[in-house]
This record gives sequence, C-alpha cells and structure tokens, in this order.
Amino acid sequence: MQRKRIAIYPGSFDPVTNGHLDIIERASALFDRLIVAVAEDHRGESLFGEKEKLHMLGKVTACLDNVVIECFSGLLVDYAKKRKARAIIRGLRAVSDFEYEFQMALMNKKLQGKIETVFMATKEIYSYLSSSIVKEVVLLGGSVEGLVPEGVEKRLKEKIKRGHYGGTKEKNLKIKKG
Ligand code: PNS
Repeated sequence: MQRKRIAIYPGSFDPVTNGHLDIIERASALFDRLIVAVAEDHRGESLFGEKEKLHMLGKVTACLDNVVIECFSGLLVDYAKKRKARAIIRGLRAVSDFEYEFQMALMNKKLQGKIETVFMATKEIYSYLSSSIVKEVVLLGGSVEGLVPEGVEKRLKEKIKRGHYGGTKEKNLKIKKG
C-alpha cells in the first residue's frame, strides 16, 4: 500500500487571512492530508490565543475533509517527522519574502534532510496581505472585508474594542518644539 502524502502548513495565523486560506485550499488538493499547524507563541506577542486560532482555522476549513488543525511547539521539523509529513508548505507573496523563507527552508533541510519545503505563490490579489497589516488596519478603524474570512474581522474588532491590542491610546499627539 502506498504511503499517504502528508504535508504541514505551519504559521502564526494571528489571525488567519484569505491569503492563508487560498494556500490551504490549493495545498489540500495536492496532498492526501494537510495539517495546518499553529506555532506556539513563545514570545507572547500574538493577539489571539492558541484556542482562538484553532477555532477560527477549524471554522474556515470545515468544508475541507483532508485538512486538520493542530498546535505545535518546539522545532517544526521534529513535529513534521512525528506526523510523518513529507513536505512543509510555505506561501510566497513577494521577492521580499524569499530571503527569510529560503533561510528557513535550508535550516529545516539541514535539520531534517528528508522533509521538503514546497513554496506556493500566493494569489496576486492577496500578495500585499499579512496578518500584521490586517490587525493594523482594523486597529485604526479601517475595513478588511474580503481580506479575512467572515467572522475574523468581527473577532478582531471585538478584541480591539476590549483593549486587547497594544499601542498608544493617545489621540492627536503633538510634539512641542523648542
Ligand atoms: O506565520 P509565520 O510567523 O511566518 O510562521 C513562522 C513559523 C511558525 C513557520 C516558524 O517560525 C517556525 O517554523 N517556528 C517553529 C520553530 C522552528 O522550527 N524554528 C526553526 C525554523 S528554521
């Protein structure tokens, strides 16, 4: 019997965007099983907790039968090996992503030679999209409709309203000269 082709799509997903979702859909069509793996936030910098990230990802991938959502801590390659994954999926938005992604892919290859990193070009309409920019736009009162899955914008607004997001609360700051 042929071994199942398992891939891992790791990330911070803080929060999941439509760019992530596009990669998830396309990667799940290429592998028997796709594990979307939320990395532990060991620096404590995430806006969303692990549970919330899992919940949001679970909801938006509910229609994809071969996609599972998990959290992991420690080295990605150790986790990938444990899950018998052959590939790590990473999305590439622009050339600026490449340097960091290439460094990670080479380090992962050095640590675990049998696991391949597969880069997928993002859909061009999402090429400027990142979780960070989405958070900033919502924080400053802008709309991210069409850029994040339904429900994620609402959750973001709720978080920010409850003051769960760092940043200055002062308005119209002026600098005194002289
Ligand atoms: O969404 P992100 O923040 O670009 O994802 C980065 C992530 C989580 C894939 C990367 O930081 C990672 O693999 N972390 C796990 C720890 C690890 O294995 N570090 C060595 C990578 S070479």
